[in-house]
Amino acid sequence: MLLEEMSYTEVEAYLLEKDIVLIPIGSVEQHSPYGIIGTDFITAESIAREVGRRLDIIVAPTLPYGMSQHHMAFAGTITLSPKTYVEVIKEIVISLLEHGFRRVVFINGHGGNINPVKTAFDQLKYENYRGIFEIISWYLLQKVQDIENVLYGDLNGYHATPSEISITKFIRPKAFRNKPKGEKPVEKVETYWPLSKDEFRNVYPDGRMNSAPWLAKENDGKLIFEEAVRVIIENVRKIMEKEII
Ligand code: NI
Repeated sequence: MLLEEMSYTEVEAYLLEKDIVLIPIGSVEQHSPYGIIGTDFITAESIAREVGRRLDIIVAPTLPYGMSQHHMAFAGTITLSPKTYVEVIKEIVISLLEHGFRRVVFINGHGGNINPVKTAFDQLKYENYRGIFEIISWYLLQKVQDIENVLYGDLNGYHATPSEISITKFIRPKAFRNKPKGEKPVEKVETYWPLSKDEFRNVYPDGRMNSAPWLAKENDGKLIFEEAVRVIIENVRKIMEKEII
């Protein structure tokens, strides 16, 4: 159920039965020459919408912009500062709580979002907002990582992974018509974190982080997508059963 396609009367009727909402979040950032800039929000959005469809629960519009400061040395990246992102997340949650939602679950596709989202949750609780606030990062789920490991082993890496690129190939195949296909060396770079945008580009000159995105395949994407949906459904069902204190 997509919030953007509902009327307020339908939302009011939903709230008599259920109090959960999913919100896809990601980033608008470079994903190497092989991957597309919308990767992180497109993966999160497609997974969240499928979970919402199968569980008959509301999915709010995607928040595409995330915390991507370390990718700003690459053209096309758009970032929010952590401070702004915390406020945006807080105000989205507060809006939903005001209408009677009590379980707000962010389906996340981007690592840089995790710290600010958790900070927003801490602050909401400090301000005594009632409800369950969760973030589920699909690529961190153990069963998803098990599949990635079988498919790509060490070559999955940490950014512009063949796993996330496979999902976007499955969801948006036309976007890949003119992307490069040639292989490059995969260097195992040991560094520190966080990195400034210039440090990032020095260490990872084409935007990959220890990954081999040319291995991405539509069929792998379907497999990984299905597993992420399956595991997130299990997690969301548990969240729906929790008692709100
Ligand atoms: Ni990504």
